[in-house]
Amino acid sequence: MCFWMCALSYSFISVSSRIVGVGVVEGTVYIDGKAAIGRIDDDFVCATIDWWPPEKSFSPLKLRLGGSLQDKVIYDTEEDQHPCIPFAKNTSELFGFTQGCLPMNRWDELNNFFEKSGAKIIFGLNALYGRSIRSDGSAIGAWDYTNAESLIRYTVRNNHTIHGWELGNELSGNGVGTRVAADQYALDTISLQRIVQNIYKEIEPKPLIIAPGGFFDANWFKEFLDKATTSLDVITHHIYNLGPGVDQHLVEKILDPSYLDGEADTFRRLHNIIRTSATSATAWVGEAGGAYNSGHNLVTNAFVFSFWYLDQLGMAAAYDTKTYCRQSFIGGNYGLLNTTTFQPNPDYYSALLWHRLMGRKVLSTSFSGTKKIRAYTHCAKHSKGITILLINLDNSTTIQAKVGFNSSWSFGHKRNIFQLLQVYEREEYHLTAKDGNLHSQKVVLNGNILTVNSSGEIPPLEPLYANSSNPIKVDPFSIVFVHIPDLLLPACM
Ligand SMILES: *[C@@H]1O[C@H](CO)[C@@H](O)[C@H](O)[C@H]1NC(C)=O
Ligand SMILES: *[C@@H]1O[C@H](CO)[C@@H](O)[C@H](O)[C@H]1NC(C)=O
Ligand SMILES: *[C@@H]1O[C@H](CO)[C@@H](O)[C@H](O)[C@H]1NC(C)=O
Ligand SMILES: *[C@@H]1O[C@H](CO)[C@@H](O)[C@H](O)[C@H]1NC(C)=O
Ligand SMILES: *[C@@H]1O[C@H](CO)[C@@H](O)[C@H](O)[C@H]1NC(C)=O
Ligand SMILES: *[C@@H]1O[C@H](CO)[C@@H](O)[C@H](O)[C@H]1NC(C)=O
Ligand SMILES: *[C@@H]1O[C@H](CO)[C@@H](O)[C@H](O)[C@H]1NC(C)=O
Repeated sequence: MCFWMCALSYSFISVSSRIVGVGVVEGTVYIDGKAAIGRIDDDFVCATIDWWPPEKSFSPLKLRLGGSLQDKVIYDTEEDQHPCIPFAKNTSELFGFTQGCLPMNRWDELNNFFEKSGAKIIFGLNALYGRSIRSDGSAIGAWDYTNAESLIRYTVRNNHTIHGWELGNELSGNGVGTRVAADQYALDTISLQRIVQNIYKEIEPKPLIIAPGGFFDANWFKEFLDKATTSLDVITHHIYNLGPGVDQHLVEKILDPSYLDGEADTFRRLHNIIRTSATSATAWVGEAGGAYNSGHNLVTNAFVFSFWYLDQLGMAAAYDTKTYCRQSFIGGNYGLLNTTTFQPNPDYYSALLWHRLMGRKVLSTSFSGTKKIRAYTHCAKHSKGITILLINLDNSTTIQAKVGFNSSWSFGHKRNIFQLLQVYEREEYHLTAKDGNLHSQKVVLNGNILTVNSSGEIPPLEPLYANSSNPIKVDPFSIVFVHIPDLLLPACM
């Protein structure tokens, strides 16, 4: 009778952490395979682009087009009476720019570009239109939606597909530059939903209604969600938890597990607000660049940033966040692509592996043995098995990770889990920095530097194969995706 229960007790009786050699520690990644704790979108990976961008391995990639200037844009539709003058710098104006105008031929060009790239577009609307800004920094009055309404009409008439319309940028809570009260924002969101329903009357699927694209503030978000009721599909929040890009201690923060854990509080509180509200909305991270003011060269565009980024993706998913938009696709010091060469930075490959390997269902996961390992598990994307993501923040300790399971369940197999693990092979993707330099903009996969070839193609991302009965070796300062295609857990079936 040594089937499943035997396997369980094995993982509980065995010491979960021990030092097995110089610089080598044994630990166990515990997975609860009974039921999923979250469910991400198939296209969880999303990136932001700023207002007037130039530029497909992801199919599809979500792209969010927005930023602080979006709120000051006028769309040059037929109904609009203003002359179409582009943004100009003026430091005495809000966000340092004059009001700008989006000509419709530019809008067509952008959409044609998006259609070619196959991206799903989230477009940020001008939520300050029609409001006045008081000297205390608050924006008052209702959103004048007429200009947005005519843009949306124009968009539909010209057969452009928009995945979601997002109202506003960073106007929630205390706001950035200015703020809008939650009750007013809810009314404006209801207006947006009404005009979208009307314009897309005969069109399916309808675009998502998304708001507020701002920083999490528990009271504001709760009031907003309660009052927007069923008008809202997605509630978006922004993350810059590492502080300003000029900070000299960014790397220390990224390598500090308790610092990384700090952001879980926001995810947890938002998750609770959504669960206890009548809303049907789901949560997305609408914009996250880690360090604000454009990040930090050779940190937020280097290998070390994948520790932060993949940890964020894992953590967000574990709190049932459906989509995570990285600031930025290109631009600043935090682009997934290099701004001048358009070559992928290490985070691009990290995102791509996530996209290919981490399926929709999220499994509760913990690691025992060391705090320096970050562990996340999802049902696999293209098999019935699982994928485990292990991030080793330790500079000198190699981890030998065993896999254990927390819940017991009737397994349906004749053999116990350890016999099963012995039979199967698993696929491993080990990511390290080139030459062990965390500031490198080159990433190494299973010993090979990843670079695009002369035709600009992404290299194939090939796994190593390992015997599933052996522990998973996680080198110092490395990231490992482990795909176990044949390990069938109830949550993934
Ligand atoms: C900048 O904006 C301020 C306030 O709106 C205005 O008074 C000023 O003339 C503008 N400056 C320029 C150079 O346009
Ligand atoms: C939009 O699509 C419809 C139906 O396919 C077509 O009749 C119409 O000409 C298209 N309009 C534009 C501006 O492309
Ligand atoms: C882009 O890549 C070039 C060549 O590798 C490098 O010199 C430059 O610093 C990179 N730029 C950014 C913003 O990362
Ligand atoms: C699984 O069990 C271990 C050992 O009892 C415990 O430390 C851990 O928190 C549990 N993890 C999950 C994901 O339930
Ligand atoms: C590894 O990190 C520890 C503290 O986290 C530090 O004291 C030590 O100098 C580092 N070792 C190396 C080889 O960088
Ligand atoms: C994995 O290792 C075990 C124990 O050494 C062995 O019995 C099994 O055949 C191996 N499995 C594979 C797929 O190589
Ligand atoms: C570049 O890589 C792609 C995909 O792996 C391949 O099809 C193509 O032939 C390669 N081009 C060159 C010039 O090596």
